[in-house]
Order: sequence, then structure tokens, then C-alpha cells
Amino acid sequence: MLQNHRKLQLTESQRDGMRRAGRFNSQLMDYLRPHIVAGISTLEIDQLVHEYTLRHKHQPATLGYHGYSKSCCTSVNEVICHGIPCPYVLQNGDIINVDITSIVDGWHGDQSETFMIGDVSEHARAVTQCAFDAMHRAIAALEPGCTVSVIGDNVVAEATARGFSVVREYVGHGLGKRFHQYPNIPHVADRQSRQERLLPGMCFTVEPMINVGTRFTKLDSKDGWTVRTRDGKLSAQFEHTVLMREDGPEILTQCPNGPARGHRF
Ligand code: MF3
Ligand code: CO
Ligand code: CO
Repeated sequence: MLQNHRKLQLTESQRDGMRRAGRFNSQLMDYLRPHIVAGISTLEIDQLVHEYTLRHKHQPATLGYHGYSKSCCTSVNEVICHGIPCPYVLQNGDIINVDITSIVDGWHGDQSETFMIGDVSEHARAVTQCAFDAMHRAIAALEPGCTVSVIGDNVVAEATARGFSVVREYVGHGLGKRFHQYPNIPHVADRQSRQERLLPGMCFTVEPMINVGTRFTKLDSKDGWTVRTRDGKLSAQFEHTVLMREDGPEILTQCPNGPARGHRF
């Protein structure tokens, strides 16, 4: 069943609310960037996120979200997503995805980047580059009124061309006053995404998770959050929040100092 999209099509002042949330979130990512180096623990990264957000009088959206107890997700190496900040200290050769979501005056900005720590393997660099390129290729392909499946089709084309796989169990999402809302944004197109359309005024994330090996995942049964590759091989992810406008997509979480489309890692 296609849903009624009307309340998801934001007015100009609501769009400005989303722009402010995306801008703040991207400034937080720029603030973090120089700290993401060998020797910092993922818990310390979380503390930086928490302090910066509260200092600016905003809220980390993950804190208390369905019982999640931290202000960001830190997913190292074979962790696909939802890694919980902990005392683990980043080492030369690691890759780490840092995923941050802020609530600014009730609106959400959601983004992530994968960082390479020191000298990384060729596989680590290639999968990081692929996740970044797949995200930007999918966003660049969007047009007002296009089907959601444009995203999955472009992500899959980029990943398969490089011999990598695309995670299916975890998807992008609509967002606004709520963190996760309609529509689902799968990174592998399915029947539903071939029918649903991205209309002007809708906000959603594009956040492909790309694996070096198998696409299959394994949820940590002890903490109930951490998602790993089933074969233990590397996974990388990037995420932006996007507003569909009457004239095409606008990325709301582009960092002034961060990598932009076309960047080579
Ligand atoms: N930020 C993640 C996303 O992109 C969601 C994290 S929810 C958490 O949708 F509870 F795991 F933090
Ligand atoms: Co998201
Ligand atoms: Co996110």
C-alpha cells in the first residue's frame, strides 16, 4: 500500500529546520575529524560528541533511543553498523565508521563517515572508497518524483563493479521530527522501493553499507546492537541526509571540511 505522503512533504520553513539540523550535525563531524586518529578510544569519541552537542544546546538522537546508551555509533573494521563506543583504542590500519545524529529544535540531522586510521590495507581503502562513491552516485541519480529504487540500483551497480557486496538488513530511512520514519530506503532495490516515490519536500538518508566479502550479517547476541559481517571481513559505510527539492536533491549534511563527491581516499 502506498502511503499518504502529504505530511512528509515539508514546507519551506520546515525545510529550513532540517537544514539547520543537518548543518549542525556536519559541523560536529568536522569538529570530530582531527580527533579520529590512532590512540583515541571509541568511548572518547562518544564523549566528544556528547559534550559538543550539549554545549551547543542540542540533543544526541541515539542517547536513550530504544535503550541505546551512547551519543553515536562507532563501527570498527568488520562491524557494519551500530557499534557501541567502548574502551577500544583505535590502531594503525583500522577503519572506523562514526555515525552521528543530532536533534536541533526538534529536527534530525543524520550522517556518517568511514575514517582510515594511518596506513590501511588496499582492501580497506577500496571498500571505503566504494561506500563513498556508491552513496554519491545514488544521490546524484535522484530526481524529483523518482522511485526509491534508484538508490538501490545505483549502489548495487557501484558495488558489484568492484566485487563488493551490499548489506540488505539495514537500510536508510525517512527522517524529520522523527529519527526513523517512512519511507524505507533499501540499498538493494526491492518491490516496494520500485513503487514508492521521492517527492519534493521529503527528507531521507542514503547510507549504503558495503562489505568486502559476504553480504550476510550477524547481530551480537550479548549487546543486542553490534552488527558484524558474518565472515569477519571489512565493511564500510557513508551516510548523508538528503532533501528532495522541486529541482533535485540537496545534501543537508555536507561538511565544510569533509570529503565531497569525487574525493579520492
Ligand atoms: N544513526 C543510525 C542511522 O543511520 C541509527 C543508529 S540508532 C542506534 O540510522 F540506536 F543504534 F544508535
Ligand atoms: Co540513518
Ligand atoms: Co546514521
